[in-house]
Amino acid sequence: MTDTLLRGRILSFNRAPLSAEDSTAYSYVEDGALLLRDGLIIASGPYAEVSLQAQGTEIIDHRPHLLMAGFIDTHIHFPQLQIVASWGSQLLDWLNGYTFPAEAEFADAQHARAMARRFCDQLIDHGTTTAVAFCSVHKTSAEAFFAEAESRNMRMIGGKTMMDRNAPEAVRDTPQQGFDDSKALIETWHGRGRGLYAITPRFAITSTPEQLEMTGALMAEHPDCYVQTHLSENHDEIAFTAELYPQARDYLDVYERFGLLTPRSLLGHAIHLKPREIDAIAQSGAHPVFCPTSNLFLGSGLFDAAGLEARGITSGIATDIGAGTSFSMLQSLNEGYKILQLQGQKLQALRAFDWITRGNAEVLGLADRIGTLVPGSEADVVVLDARATSAMALRMERAQTLEEELFVLQMMGDDRAIVQTYVAGVARKEAGAALAA
Ligand code: GUN
Ligand code: ZN
Repeated sequence: MTDTLLRGRILSFNRAPLSAEDSTAYSYVEDGALLLRDGLIIASGPYAEVSLQAQGTEIIDHRPHLLMAGFIDTHIHFPQLQIVASWGSQLLDWLNGYTFPAEAEFADAQHARAMARRFCDQLIDHGTTTAVAFCSVHKTSAEAFFAEAESRNMRMIGGKTMMDRNAPEAVRDTPQQGFDDSKALIETWHGRGRGLYAITPRFAITSTPEQLEMTGALMAEHPDCYVQTHLSENHDEIAFTAELYPQARDYLDVYERFGLLTPRSLLGHAIHLKPREIDAIAQSGAHPVFCPTSNLFLGSGLFDAAGLEARGITSGIATDIGAGTSFSMLQSLNEGYKILQLQGQKLQALRAFDWITRGNAEVLGLADRIGTLVPGSEADVVVLDARATSAMALRMERAQTLEEELFVLQMMGDDRAIVQTYVAGVARKEAGAALAA
């Protein structure tokens, strides 16, 4: 049993803040402490109180920095880490031109393992302690992903992508192969350590009805797994889907009719939704996932966060590397703020930081384990410095309130603002680690 006491300013949310004045939605302790033991937070509160329970314990003093729950990224593509910033196209051309060739390389187990290490380094450097990842179509890539996460004791969710048409052979499976490989991966990795499995049909265009049928069967056999896919990101994608599935009422109906619309469904993008689709998402309890940097990069469109929220739908927010242009959830908030601005909506800083922590945990049904600093939670903690760059420090000279500080982090922050990332109680961010890898 080794205890660690982290000292610093502590911020943790208990529900989504309704406004900038909604101070009962979170707890903030100016001179606070977290007592960590065996991967869990066992006490949280004022330093003067928590330190009494921690006589003789190693103290790591992070003052004046801010401690929050580790960030959660609810949609990211592991095999796309080297195609970020690939020039010039929208979704379907981008997939064919850059994505599928890069993903084909993950058939090689050695490449997959090397990239899994660098992928996790990037997440940690950017303060992300849980991510929900698409692996490539190859079983080897998911094995590399889960093994690397396990070696760092990270709570990671992922799955082998299933895709059996409209892609080069090197990144295609078959309905049977996709089913068998996914099932074997679930048996090995789902619930092993902190790993959880997401059944992963890429999207309607790259799966035949036979494959989606088998995906539904897999989901029925493993209802505690997640299912992740893409929905209504781009107009050409929607038109092609309608051609491929002429019987479907709309895009969402393709997934619905195969039993893929559940409270554990994560629907990447969900930008151009029809009223019936919004109704069905609201009724099912499924979760759209907002991917701001990606939506701007590919020119896909503007996510209607307020419209969905008004229907009682709980959306996630995510980076969507490699169409997304940053591993940083802070940068996702920055661009998310601007996307909402274009629609006359607001992304308040308190709401923003709730979203990338507790909110995303709630989307995953994991808010009792991650996303907050409540005792009993897993000890995934990020240490933030709102003066990390000279421009941020300059701006901070005029910041008066916690909300202003958070807004500086939201708009100007990136990996430089992440002083340290604790995963299950262990400090994992090493200076220059991602560069050296
Ligand atoms: N739709 C299907 N596959 C992908 C992908 O890899 N990235 C994005 N942004 N959209 C997709
Ligand atoms: Zn995606």
